[in-house]
Amino acid sequence: MHNAVIAPSILSADMSNLGKETKSVLAAGADFIHVDVMDNHYVPNLTFGPIVVKALRNFGIVAPLDVHLMIKPVDRIIPEFAEAGADYITFHPEASENIEHTLELIRQCECKSGIVFNPATPLDILGRVLDKIDIVLLMSVNPGFGGQPFIEPVLDKLSHAREIIDKSKYDIRLEIDGGVKIDNIRKIAEAGADTFVAGSAIFETDNYGSTIAMMREQIALANN
Ligand code: DX5
Ligand code: ZN
Repeated sequence: MHNAVIAPSILSADMSNLGKETKSVLAAGADFIHVDVMDNHYVPNLTFGPIVVKALRNFGIVAPLDVHLMIKPVDRIIPEFAEAGADYITFHPEASENIEHTLELIRQCECKSGIVFNPATPLDILGRVLDKIDIVLLMSVNPGFGGQPFIEPVLDKLSHAREIIDKSKYDIRLEIDGGVKIDNIRKIAEAGADTFVAGSAIFETDNYGSTIAMMREQIALANN
């Protein structure tokens, strides 16, 4: 299993201070920054384009940027996100005309690639793309908005994804996104996640550092 990664979603940051907020949350102990890209088409919300990723890099952010594309179509803009400074690029299979092609395109752009499963989407296609992915993202809310409650049945799906990854010979992270909080992160870790996205649970607290530290304590309890 990989080391635990905490990836705050800047969707819940103060947008008028995005660069400073990103620096603060990294100084508070975050590992990756999760960038939720929404297009008002695949999901009913509109957020960041490649220029925002580029602006964060220009502002001095060096941490891995985990770019979660909730957009359709996906292929045309992938090279632009890569060029802007993305490290991980994940997309929803429903939004791609050819999943293998999109995964290959992401790797050709020298980014780490991954697919995202909505809460109701079965893991069926996971087995056939294991050689083309670096990360699997399971959504534990329906995509579009921060601050929604964690959908509990996703815990069983996480355990199943963990088994599939462990049985494969590939080095793949297992990420969870949506409704992750201090009080449920332990059971999420126990179900097999190693990469934890959290938006509102971090940015809506006064002290990002103590929230992240408490999340790590809970994850460590799961790993004992
Ligand atoms: C939802 C996004 C999530 C979301 C997480 O579409 O993909 O990353 O912002 O927010 P919280 O942690 O508040 O559920
Ligand atoms: Zn996300």
